[in-house]
Amino acid sequence: MMKKINVGIVGGSGFTGGELCRLLLKHKNIQKIYPTSRSEQSFKRTHSGLANSNLEFIDVDTLILKKKIDVVFLCTKSSQSIEYAEIFLKKKITVIDLSGAFRFNNSKNYFKAYGSEHSKKKLLESSAYGATEFNNKAIKKNSLIANPGCYALCALFSLAPLTKSKFADFGKIIKIHAINGTTGAGTSLRQEITHKNVMENMLAYNGSGHRHAPEIEEKLLSFFNIKNASIDLNTAHGNFRRGIFMQISIETKKNYNKKISRKFLIKEFKNFYKSKILNNFIFINDLEKTGDKNFKDYKIYPQLSNVVGTNNCNIGLDYDEDKKIIKVISVMDNLIKGAAGSAIQNMNLKFDFNPTEGLDTLGIF
Ligand SMILES: NC(=O)c1ccc[n+]([C@@H]2O[C@H](COP(=O)([O-])OP(=O)(O)OC[C@H]3O[C@@H](n4cnc5c(N)ncnc54)[C@H](OP(=O)(O)O)[C@@H]3O)[C@@H](O)[C@H]2O)c1
Repeated sequence: MMKKINVGIVGGSGFTGGELCRLLLKHKNIQKIYPTSRSEQSFKRTHSGLANSNLEFIDVDTLILKKKIDVVFLCTKSSQSIEYAEIFLKKKITVIDLSGAFRFNNSKNYFKAYGSEHSKKKLLESSAYGATEFNNKAIKKNSLIANPGCYALCALFSLAPLTKSKFADFGKIIKIHAINGTTGAGTSLRQEITHKNVMENMLAYNGSGHRHAPEIEEKLLSFFNIKNASIDLNTAHGNFRRGIFMQISIETKKNYNKKISRKFLIKEFKNFYKSKILNNFIFINDLEKTGDKNFKDYKIYPQLSNVVGTNNCNIGLDYDEDKKIIKVISVMDNLIKGAAGSAIQNMNLKFDFNPTEGLDTLGIF
């Protein structure tokens, strides 16, 4: 008989909680879904796109008292996740946290990113970082899984193949420019994110240092042994709802004298991502360049519309021969691969479900 589990979603009324409901409703191994909300609004009013689903909100205390819950997704702010994680873990329930509460290896790095002390240091140190593709073993054996930051995960997919190369210079500052849809800001009402202020507009934020930069630096060290990486992460909201559009520049080593080209980089990346664990959701754009030097061949780079609504990360590459700079262009849906989809990948791994179950969708454009 097919194994089925029951899931709780704390913060079921928010963007990532709603996306989890949408995806889990189609997941073969899910018996019951219990999303929580403290608001008076019904599930149907909050997530009108899922009105046919018969899901109802419950409050968090009711979820805590429920007996047969196998996994709880925390779609809450870090400060709330820290409190809830302990409660569910004590009940021997697997916790997959979508906030930044448990992403760092230690409290020193947490402090650097958040500017405050972590109140549950032991929990922080015992968590597994939920980059499914890179941290399989730890996720499998841990009950507290910290889903990665959306920019951080996109950057790690984009940089990982270069960490194995002899030519990418990780000693130099790595420049990342990334644009996120407005859903990246969560559902809490902000004047600046209203239609009037966002349409035909761009909003830069966290120029003095985005908290995902130290997360990328820490994971480059722990997964790929890159010491002292320095990430200059520049972020903005664009006038679209979902999706991350990321552009990375990384210099090549001065003493590397073999020829680097776009074709060569594509080959390196495809090689890196050819293994079974890595190739479910990561795709390298290998279309041939057309036209002369200045022709704008948009198709050779990934576009947001290729991945919105999917759990995929699409990666494109190029090389500025004059400046000796590698360019990586990557896109993913912040609410799926950057949040709910990765969380489901971790659940699939943890409960021995098919790795792509619930996530097997293709781009619509
Ligand atoms: N949005 C993204 O693209 C994205 C991507 C990756 C990670 N994340 C992270 O995922 C988490 C959720 O993000 P989101 O965008 O889904 O946020 P959101 O849309 O603002 O939703 C937050 C949810 O938290 C609930 N909540 C607030 N206070 C609570 C409390 N004291 N107890 C229980 N529930 C409470 C709210 O529900 P009620 O008020 O109805 O109870 C709401 O459903 C955040 O930590 C965020 O940083 C977000």
